[in-house]
Amino acid sequence: MEILFNKIEKIVKKKLSSSPRCHDWEHTQRVIHNAELIMEYEKTADKSVVRLGALLHDIARADEIAIKGKQCHAVRGSELADKILENERIDEVLRGKIVNCVKKHRFRSTLMPETIEEKIVYDADKLDSVGAVGIGRAFLFAGRTGAKVHNTEEAALKSESYSEEDTAFREYLVKLRYIPDRMLTDAGREIAKKRVHYMAGFFEKLNREIFTDDE
Ligand SMILES: [Fe+2]
Ligand SMILES: [Fe+2]
Repeated sequence: MEILFNKIEKIVKKKLSSSPRCHDWEHTQRVIHNAELIMEYEKTADKSVVRLGALLHDIARADEIAIKGKQCHAVRGSELADKILENERIDEVLRGKIVNCVKKHRFRSTLMPETIEEKIVYDADKLDSVGAVGIGRAFLFAGRTGAKVHNTEEAALKSESYSEEDTAFREYLVKLRYIPDRMLTDAGREIAKKRVHYMAGFFEKLNREIFTDDE
């Protein structure tokens, strides 16, 4: 299985070379790492399915942007993953399990993960949005869309996403702090809670530095 993983890793790496930095190859590497963290607790999961699902989950990210969002990257990615795995002569049952991890990984999708492997890939992906990495990615994304460094909670909640008044703080307030509630595995939820707690402390400090005399 390791030979197959390494072979597919090369294909994914190449596909993600034109993907925005928030969803680049390093994001995929962190998702694989997060999935491995969750699997230390979720012992019944099929590790090969999870690792290959995590590896392939964002393979169509750059395609989704190229076609201006006309097709969801999870759906397109699952079709692509199916072809890649078929080329490698992976049997239909195993292929289906991996492909479904890719198809159901998206936060906004109505297709919800059902198997433990699908849930782990979903949670592992969300974990990359919280904690210290989540802070880094939120600012990276805000910078890419022309948003500013910071604003008050009131202004952040009034601002629109992708507007000049948008901030990483708005993304935290409206979405990221609620990620633990959306997690599907117990281990994923516990890790997410710790990471969100860290983010809360960071934004409190940022507010103190900018809006008060306190350190
Ligand atoms: Fe994705
Ligand atoms: Fe992702």
